[in-house]
Amino acid sequence: MRSVAAATPRVDVQHVDLGARSYDVVVGDGLVDEVGGRLRPMLSSPRVVVVSDANVAPLYLARVERSLAAAGFACSSVVVPAGEGTKDFAHLEDLVERIVVVGIERTTPLIALGGGVVGDITGLAAGLLLRGLPYVQVPTTLLSQVDSAVGGKTAINSRHGKNLIGLFHQPCAVLADVGTLATLESRQVRAGYAEVVKYGLIGNAAFFAWLERNGAAVCSGDVDARRRAVLTSCAAKGAIVAADEREAGERALLNLGHTFGHALEAEAGYSDTLLHGEAVAVGMALAFALSARLGLCPPGDADRVVRHLAAVGLPTGFADLVHGAWSAEALVRHMTRDKKVQDGRITLILAHGIGQAVIRRDVEADTVRHFLAEAVAARP
Ligand code: GLY
Repeated sequence: MRSVAAATPRVDVQHVDLGARSYDVVVGDGLVDEVGGRLRPMLSSPRVVVVSDANVAPLYLARVERSLAAAGFACSSVVVPAGEGTKDFAHLEDLVERIVVVGIERTTPLIALGGGVVGDITGLAAGLLLRGLPYVQVPTTLLSQVDSAVGGKTAINSRHGKNLIGLFHQPCAVLADVGTLATLESRQVRAGYAEVVKYGLIGNAAFFAWLERNGAAVCSGDVDARRRAVLTSCAAKGAIVAADEREAGERALLNLGHTFGHALEAEAGYSDTLLHGEAVAVGMALAFALSARLGLCPPGDADRVVRHLAAVGLPTGFADLVHGAWSAEALVRHMTRDKKVQDGRITLILAHGIGQAVIRRDVEADTVRHFLAEAVAARP
């Protein structure tokens, strides 16, 4: 695969090393105007299909289409409804049928222009159509730039849980334009920022310390701080994915905060009362608190995690959540249904300290239940 390396100095490139499925993650400001030029050297197809959603299309689709046309691509676009509700079989069926109608061959790339929902369903459509089309991620939210666009997980939701129906299908490039974050509402930026913090907590204490100093700048719109945060996050994710593409082992570290977080989201009904990143923020605080409780991690590190998340305006515990009736029993029930359950045991990502996350399958469900019951009861 040809590289989409920088044509201008205002981009950084992170290579994800997966042998024949390797690709570049390009991070920069203004990339939506360069999609065509960056893809032209690596794609032989004369045509592409752009998939976007009803929120993102009015903002960026015309710019992407112009750049594709300028680079000589014939381009068709398909716009899907915005929101998590799009990640179901009905919308997947509609999407693939519309893509078939516009005309595709095995080499026709799909371009996912949008946040995690667009990236996940477009990647899945690409994996299924003609038994596998190439696709490119152009993520426009902080959450998708630092997490879902990189790593090849594609999915829709089942009635019984999030992302239960999907494929590993790697993109052939990721173009993360931090300029698009300027149109993202601040609550969504903060929610994405929780995933940025995650990389510091998993394996990079120096990055966490940098975030303690620069998190406010990242959240408030400083483009250079955003570029560094996105690039460092993509480098961390790329390294983990390269080592364990299909999550046989260490890729599970990326679920720090997610086992608790998914349970919170499920209880909150996957509604706007609790965004995914907000649930992950609470989940990370809980994971560090449980680690400290189990004597794995210094309590001071758990406090530092809470202080930093709170400093940027993220929730860190049940007291910060508007949803009313939390039940430790119900939360543990969700955790035992998680995709990562193995032989009936909950997989928890805990930590020996900041930057030292570990995968643990030896914590009894009862221990988690008691810990959560106390955390729920501590709510004023
Ligand atoms: N978002 C977790 C992963 O990509 O593995």
